[in-house]
Amino acid sequence: MKPWDFALPQSGPRPDGEKGCAMSEQEPGKITVPSLLAKKAAGERIAVLTAYDFPTARILDESGVDIILVGDSLGMVVLGYENTIPVTMDDMIHHTKAVTRAVKRALVIGDMPYGSFHASVEETLRNAVRFLKEAGAGGVKIEGASPERLEIIEALVGAEVPVMGHVGLTPQSICSLGQYKVKGMVPDEARRIIRGAMDLERAGAFAVVLESIPMEIAREVTARLRIPTIGIGAGPYCDGQVLVFHDMMGYATGYLPKFVRKYADLHGILSRAVEDYVADVRKGVFPDNAASYHLKPEDAGRVLRGRGFAKGAGKSGKGRKRV
Ligand code: KIV
Repeated sequence: MKPWDFALPQSGPRPDGEKGCAMSEQEPGKITVPSLLAKKAAGERIAVLTAYDFPTARILDESGVDIILVGDSLGMVVLGYENTIPVTMDDMIHHTKAVTRAVKRALVIGDMPYGSFHASVEETLRNAVRFLKEAGAGGVKIEGASPERLEIIEALVGAEVPVMGHVGLTPQSICSLGQYKVKGMVPDEARRIIRGAMDLERAGAFAVVLESIPMEIAREVTARLRIPTIGIGAGPYCDGQVLVFHDMMGYATGYLPKFVRKYADLHGILSRAVEDYVADVRKGVFPDNAASYHLKPEDAGRVLRGRGFAKGAGKSGKGRKRV
């Protein structure tokens, strides 16, 4: 039995009519690991997006996103790396802290970066615990479902660290894969994905990301698991969906996989705004009178004289003594 199994809804009303016995005040509607499991049981879809900073996390939280993933995709969309490999634990903690400062309702999950869970169970535990203790996250995500990975996930769950699994395309495997490609198109690979997801549930993961796999496989996995599946490029049958914020907002440049739906053109909007600003500065129309501070007319003479400006100050102000 996993620590959160008790929270799964039982069928039918409680015989005593009680509402339960919560022992602490909680933000109404706060998303927790048990509430996500209950969503799956009730057939409610789960909305997940990535965020890496305070203002974005606040928008996502206020807009009803259930899980905010501080993905190591930040390596590419925020830090400008070619892939996620160079991202460090310190990068992740820094950005996760910014996100958790903004979030009241969503569950914040920190993505364990490449190298942070490969050396030993002890080091993995230390790193995962940093996400909870230092950064205020509610859990971590780990890519892969190899036997070594499952052992690590069991140890984390045993230490009360909620873990989200991740199978299908695992971007941290880029050095061995050579390229990002849809996974599960052949029987062996499909079986490995289904088995991997089931093993992750057995190891105690509370959810599993399915990335870039055929929707038929995602449907099969979703039907077999009690924990929610969160799809990205895995079709409509998952219990929830995740996208990288910068991709879905048109803020990222470069190649976009076909599963990304663009909900805005932030790159275009921001570029046009910056071009307008540059033009206004060059023309001298920004700042104008309204965007400037003014001395009160009755103080102007005294203040300027007091600072030694009155005598010989040119109209343009050029050559004035600095205050
Ligand atoms: O790093 C990330 O943003 C992710 C999601 C794409 C699932 O792992």
